[in-house]
Amino acid sequence: MQKHLDKKWWQDRVVYQIYPRSFQDSNGDGIGDIQGIIRRLDYLEELGIGAIWLSPVCRSPQDDCGYDISDYQDIDPMFGSLDDMECLIREAKKRDIRILVDLVLNHSSDEHPWFVEAKKSKENPYHDYYVWRDGVAGEAPNDMKACFGGSAWEWVPELGQYYFHQFSVKQPDLNWDNPKVRQEIYEMIYWWMEKGVGGFRMDVIDQIAKVPELKITNNGPRLHEFLQEMSRETFQKGDLLTVGEAWGANTDLAKLYSNPDGSEFSMVFQFEHIGLDQQEGKEKWDLAPFSFLKLKEIMNKWQKELYDCGWNSLFWNNHDLPRIVSRWGNEKEYREKCAKMMATLLHGMQGTPYIYQGEELGMTNAEYEISEYRDIETLNMYKERIAAGYPVEEVLHSIHVKGRDNARTPMQWDDSEHAGFTTGTPWIKVNPNYPEINAAAQVGKEESVFTYYKTLVRLRRQYEVFVDGKFEMLFPEHPEVMAYTRINGNTEMVVICNFFGNKISNPVKKDWGEYHLLLTNDRENGDADVLTPYEARIYIRCGIDTCH
Ligand code: GLC
Ligand code: CA
Repeated sequence: MQKHLDKKWWQDRVVYQIYPRSFQDSNGDGIGDIQGIIRRLDYLEELGIGAIWLSPVCRSPQDDCGYDISDYQDIDPMFGSLDDMECLIREAKKRDIRILVDLVLNHSSDEHPWFVEAKKSKENPYHDYYVWRDGVAGEAPNDMKACFGGSAWEWVPELGQYYFHQFSVKQPDLNWDNPKVRQEIYEMIYWWMEKGVGGFRMDVIDQIAKVPELKITNNGPRLHEFLQEMSRETFQKGDLLTVGEAWGANTDLAKLYSNPDGSEFSMVFQFEHIGLDQQEGKEKWDLAPFSFLKLKEIMNKWQKELYDCGWNSLFWNNHDLPRIVSRWGNEKEYREKCAKMMATLLHGMQGTPYIYQGEELGMTNAEYEISEYRDIETLNMYKERIAAGYPVEEVLHSIHVKGRDNARTPMQWDDSEHAGFTTGTPWIKVNPNYPEINAAAQVGKEESVFTYYKTLVRLRRQYEVFVDGKFEMLFPEHPEVMAYTRINGNTEMVVICNFFGNKISNPVKKDWGEYHLLLTNDRENGDADVLTPYEARIYIRCGIDTCH
């Protein structure tokens, strides 16, 4: 069992993502903040998580809710101060929780001093920190589009040049070809490491090595050269969890990113499963029916291909995605059972699981009026599509299904006004279902979604098979059940999930007498051969030396 000696701290822990502005407000201004997070650390300790991925809290004009940074080494006053951040790192450490900082390295804010300087003249030493092209007004260098609508090129008349931005006009792309930019970034990362953070999540990291002439945004030719340099200069000097966001990753690329030799990151977020409900080659708003068999195929592929030569991150949700029970599950009569099933399916696999705030309560999407949304992506798309003649109902429907604000409604703590999130006016409306779905109603309750998640987090630390077990998909063609085994030496774990709302016969036949039922979301069902709607089970058969 040589492998166990090399086990990394982040291989048997679960990461919890906090979207700070929506987590907990401490001063009544309606916006979540760092002191609010500190106040809720006991809740997170109870859940048992080992690290927090904190969405950006650095200084920012908040054009894209903090993903537009104007000072990488200071905290936005809206969220608190550097002292608060240091306090958070310390207080979390006491509870054996590490803080992962969100690094937005593809672009900065246009209000970052680098860009303010860069715009002054072509001779300015900071000019080359960004991506510029000469041109004439009204004739952008090419027709590339920005992710949040409009052209990816913005004209600066004083310079007679365009700058490149893959996201909003207030998010100019940094020029990674410039070694000075890279050096500044490494120094900044090292500064955070010295503050004692546990690692980093790297925003759209596969888009840093862009080549606009060739219309290349992700997976540019110098990408892995840059990442390996960054890793050498920074991460490898610590014992960190590093995870890159890589929309363009396939399994071969993921093996590079998460090479066990540590030359790049610990792992990446890949999004192959996330595109399953959109029309091919179109935008995320262009909805298509979701294929369960395809989901199974993708998960099988990632589990198999990264085994022993990479590491997966496992997630259903984040601050950019709709809530999973609403998206591919059941947010109505089977909401709780379905939330538990989804959790089982994910946490039984190999990799590091991520829980997005509120997922552990089975929080749902929020269907709002257009005036109640706040997200720049949603609002820009709405304007563009309405102007292009799309029917209002159709556009609103896409927003209800896919909009990022589904994930950004305030955390539901209790059934008091504004769900206990703030004593003031929340920056975005609280989901009206908070009297029913909230933390106070679930913590300490045996049958709650929260307690179920807590059990999954604990089992991962308790049974090595969660970390090491080799994955085998059972019945890949079964249209309703996802079932798989994880085998490590003599230990075998069997995970069975009925993904839909029908009562069906259990395709997995074993001599269950030899197995122990580790976890189930339906204690009433005593029949091993029948699966009730959304039922999930984990069985284990222990080898002599591998279980404790
Ligand atoms: C990532 C973030 C998203 C942000 C974008 C631009 O995809 O997760 O929230 O808008 O990058 O920084
Ligand atoms: Ca606040």
